[in-house]
Amino acid sequence: MFSEEIINKFKQTPTPFYYYDKKLLQLTLDTLKKAADKYGYIVHYAVKANANLEILKIISSYGFGADCVSGNEVKQAVDCGFSGDKIVYAGVGKSDKEIKLALELGIFCFNCESLQELEVINSLASECGKKASVALRLNPGIDAHTNKCINTGLEDSKFGIDFNYLEDTVKFVQSLENVKLIGLHFHIGSQILDMEPYRLLCQRSNEMQQKLNELNISLPEINLGGGLGIDYQQPDENPIPDFEKLLDLIHQNLKVMPGQRVHFEFGRSVVAQCGTLISRVLYIKPAVKTNFAIADAGFTDLIRPALYGAYHKIENLTSKSKETKTYDVVGPICESTDVFISNLEMPVTNRGDILAFRSAGAYGEIMASRYNLRDIPKSYFFNND
Ligand code: LLP
Repeated sequence: MFSEEIINKFKQTPTPFYYYDKKLLQLTLDTLKKAADKYGYIVHYAVKANANLEILKIISSYGFGADCVSGNEVKQAVDCGFSGDKIVYAGVGKSDKEIKLALELGIFCFNCESLQELEVINSLASECGKKASVALRLNPGIDAHTNKCINTGLEDSKFGIDFNYLEDTVKFVQSLENVKLIGLHFHIGSQILDMEPYRLLCQRSNEMQQKLNELNISLPEINLGGGLGIDYQQPDENPIPDFEKLLDLIHQNLKVMPGQRVHFEFGRSVVAQCGTLISRVLYIKPAVKTNFAIADAGFTDLIRPALYGAYHKIENLTSKSKETKTYDVVGPICESTDVFISNLEMPVTNRGDILAFRSAGAYGEIMASRYNLRDIPKSYFFNND
């Protein structure tokens, strides 16, 4: 829901662009902080969801850490106020250059995904006279019951080290001089709405800790990753995800050793609902089965529908018509997959109408590309502080 004042600003601004609701972001961060503080849990914002400078500055001002997946993300997080010693760095393919940068910036922990990566971190840390703190990213073999493109905890996934290899991996790490094992890391997928996979994840983590205890090892850090889903269907009714419900469930199911700290890496749940892609309708083209509403935004601005078949609620903010028609909302890009939605009932829509693509704050702007040599969309907050 947007006020007339904001819609007027949209009308005056060249499209397409991202609009971010700063108040909603702050409210979401307040809610998350409260839910995490209840149990002393540590939250790292997953920078990959949205690395907009303003957004990063707002999030870092809450004292959260950052979860990064590239050297550039680590650097941008530090530049935007995240303290190096609160940064975790995951990724199956960290390059030597990226590892060196992270060592120089003194990050908190590398979430390591293979034995060979551990060896490389060890040798690079030794070259610069440092000891790198690492957590083992374990693939827990759990189905997160989400879109198959963003399900990461199953055995055929490229992510993490199979949990069955825990003991061998731990022995290997212990043989390395410049690496210090501080924790276990998991991430089972994204846009998770069913809480059962998180319960199973706690069980798996408990089992892994039990195994480590038998080897007389206790690790100070457990990181359960991110993945909490949001309501794409009803963004106005549910603008803030239920962090408390998830963290209560974790608290009830996760065994935590004395002094051990529990970490999370939330991305989508923090930023998705505060962002909207605003676009203008360029043309209406009647066809045999539908009417094409051709927007000036395409998959270069918001790729989720084309890449994952993802749903974003689309609203016509300017049509005053009481009558509706069926539309396929498509973009201008020269690809048949440049379709945001098919068969959408919308008030009669005309050239120049403003469309809002809701819940686009996560994996929207950050996944924009220059295909067809299009411009990267700008972003605005319109100072709604
Ligand atoms: N931690 C790790 C290790 C991750 O790989 C991810 C997301 C997160 C945390 C944050 O997950 P979140 O809380 O945002 O679910 N582009 C896709 C989503 C890809 C998610 C990649 N990893 C989309 O548009 O749905």
